[in-house]
Amino acid sequence: MKIVVIGGTGLIGSKTVAILRQGGHEVVAASPKSGVNTITGEGVKEAMTGAGVVIDLANSPSFEDKAVLEFFETSGRNLLPAEAAAGVRHHVALSIVGTDRSDNGYFRAKVAQEKLIVASGIPYTIVRATQFMEFLGGIADSGADGNTVRLPPILFQPIAADDVASMVAEVALAAPRNGIVEIAGPDRAPFNEIVARYLKTASDPREVLSDPEARYWGGQVETYSLVPLHEARLGRIGLEEWFRRSKAGA
Ligand SMILES: NC(=O)c1ccc[n+]([C@@H]2O[C@H](COP(=O)([O-])OP(=O)(O)OC[C@H]3O[C@@H](n4cnc5c(N)ncnc54)[C@H](OP(=O)(O)O)[C@@H]3O)[C@@H](O)[C@H]2O)c1
Repeated sequence: MKIVVIGGTGLIGSKTVAILRQGGHEVVAASPKSGVNTITGEGVKEAMTGAGVVIDLANSPSFEDKAVLEFFETSGRNLLPAEAAAGVRHHVALSIVGTDRSDNGYFRAKVAQEKLIVASGIPYTIVRATQFMEFLGGIADSGADGNTVRLPPILFQPIAADDVASMVAEVALAAPRNGIVEIAGPDRAPFNEIVARYLKTASDPREVLSDPEARYWGGQVETYSLVPLHEARLGRIGLEEWFRRSKAGA
């Protein structure tokens, strides 16, 4: 079966492409570098020819509120009609746990992406993941002010990119749910504790403070905003294991 992975060169995309190719599938790793651009529309129609499944793992080059909303809306408007015209039988997209429970600009853009998918008429599965462990450094930087990192006092349950990719690949090969599947890492702990552990592993001297006034990427969050509220599929790679691996790879 031909599977097109939009954003197939990215963090999750490249791992997903490798897993599916190992399973013997014909996989197109689509991205602007390979001549498929969901913003300009270049190469989109051609990439869809003969595809049974499309997995959208693209991300916006800019996380600025307006730019990211424009990215996911334009991308969906170019991609989904091309998939419908080509008779794609399953559209899979990667979204974020709690994306409809906070008011930050990035989450709003992911909600817009999800709405376009639901309205497209194409059988779909939306995989909502918690934050990637690989994103911990970016999160620390987002709350940093000099030598202090301020984070809201909420629960956190990040997932390793390897686990995300294997679950996305599995979902893509299964029947469309026409709904949402939530995935998360195996360990849940206070936000500040996890980020402090990450910084310690990275020998980063910044101090992490739990601050009720702090926001998450500009958005207000509460205790359970970023963790699954109901049953979620859990990854295999725990925080300790991921810290160990990332230290070994550093
Ligand atoms: N970060 C998190 O914690 C988190 C949590 C849950 C869900 N997600 C979602 O996971 C998805 C994948 O994230 P990621 O970190 O793997 O992304 P990433 O590493 O930043 O990769 C982005 C990919 O998108 C491609 N791309 C950019 N502009 C494009 C365009 N105009 N047309 C087609 N492809 C384009 C890039 O292609 P080039 O290589 O050619 O530039 C690259 O392959 C995103 O949708 C994100 O919202 C993220």
